[in-house]
Amino acid sequence: MQAMEYRGPYRVRVDDKPMPRIEHPRDAIVRVTRSCICGSDLHLYHGMVPDTRVGQTFGHEFTGIVEEVGSAVENLKVGDHVLVPFNIACGQCHFCKQGLFGNCHESNPQATAVGGIFGYSHTAGGFDGGQAQYARVPYADFGPTIIPDWMDPDDAVLLTDVVPTGYQAAEMGGIQKGDTVLVFGAGPVGIMAARCAWLFGAGRVIVVDHIDYRLEFVRNFAPAEVYNFKELDDVVTFMKKTTDGLGADVVIDAVGAEATGNILQTIFGKRLKMEAGSAIALHWAINSVKKGGIVSVVGVFGPTGNVVPIGNIVNKGLTLRGNQAAVKRLLPRLIEHVKAGHIDPKALITHRVPLADIADAYHIFSDKLDNCIKPVLLPNGA
Ligand SMILES: NC(=O)c1ccc[n+]([C@@H]2O[C@H](COP(=O)([O-])OP(=O)(O)OC[C@H]3O[C@@H](n4cnc5c(N)ncnc54)[C@H](O)[C@@H]3O)[C@@H](O)[C@H]2O)c1
Ligand SMILES: [Zn+2]
Ligand SMILES: [Zn+2]
Repeated sequence: MQAMEYRGPYRVRVDDKPMPRIEHPRDAIVRVTRSCICGSDLHLYHGMVPDTRVGQTFGHEFTGIVEEVGSAVENLKVGDHVLVPFNIACGQCHFCKQGLFGNCHESNPQATAVGGIFGYSHTAGGFDGGQAQYARVPYADFGPTIIPDWMDPDDAVLLTDVVPTGYQAAEMGGIQKGDTVLVFGAGPVGIMAARCAWLFGAGRVIVVDHIDYRLEFVRNFAPAEVYNFKELDDVVTFMKKTTDGLGADVVIDAVGAEATGNILQTIFGKRLKMEAGSAIALHWAINSVKKGGIVSVVGVFGPTGNVVPIGNIVNKGLTLRGNQAAVKRLLPRLIEHVKAGHIDPKALITHRVPLADIADAYHIFSDKLDNCIKPVLLPNGA
């Protein structure tokens, strides 16, 4: 079969790989119908994630038709069209029982923090992902969800990650009615977080980025008040001023470890790699939230350290929350929101790309070219 392969930083290509096969009674094999590239894949593509091995196939946001099931999988049958949550979760361990499906204790032998994730380096279990014609889905009796008949497959593929992640970002913010919610990052995740903030009762939603076409998109889509941080003298001072001098009630970091906007962090974190990338958006989040407020972090940071203003967290009495989204926990609610028209996930898709053009797709998404917001790969044709 044809599959994306990582060759080293900034180098990906499509190559022949052996067909995946059932390795465990709880496995299924799916023929991939759609597969996205995520901002998280860019951390891998940029060589920022430890133990990303040459030859791995990325891709943790995919839908597919069930081709084969293991003997223990009774809830799926050949021919079902499923959406596959990005977390690989057993559904039975101590953490899964609490709905912490991003922190499954069984699916990732390498880590004590994150559970398994499709196509996300050996720090997340070393599984091959869905940027391929076929994929093996472990714990298929638990994870995959049959796509409802009425649902557009383009909406379905975004329910594997972007929508639940944006939703959980807002949820972890503990938004109270009328709150001012500030979101750093206008990528797919930040856009969805801003949209979902309204569903939790926000009174005002502000989004900050430095890419104008994305700010323009989120201004209409969320909708939100938007600012380009390159046009502000000092982001934190500006945000304080525009929120009665006190700061936002809730701030969401939807940027993660490759934030731009501070030269020292860029050199120290991204060039010299003396910390795990640049955490400047997180600094801004901590410093522009109101005293006693909540900072919700969905931006991805590596397992190694980052310099963050811990003193301000303590002295301002902040609550800092973060996690990988627990997709399976949120799906029933989000499927209802999509059905009711509260969220229109497919509006984010700007590019539809054959798998063969994977290198172009990564390049365009990484460099934010051609007004790209979310690229979808079609590994087996449209
Ligand atoms: N926790 C989860 O479950 C989960 C799931 C999906 C993605 N993520 C993470 O969420 C983050 C965003 O993902 P995405 O797909 O939207 O990525 P993306 O790369 O498309 O978007 C990131 C955006 O942040 C902007 N940005 C850079 N520096 C900034 C700064 N200092 N302030 C404000 N904006 C800044 C960029 O211009 C870009 O538009 C990534 O770190 C990704 O790994 C986490
Ligand atoms: Zn993702
Ligand atoms: Zn588990």
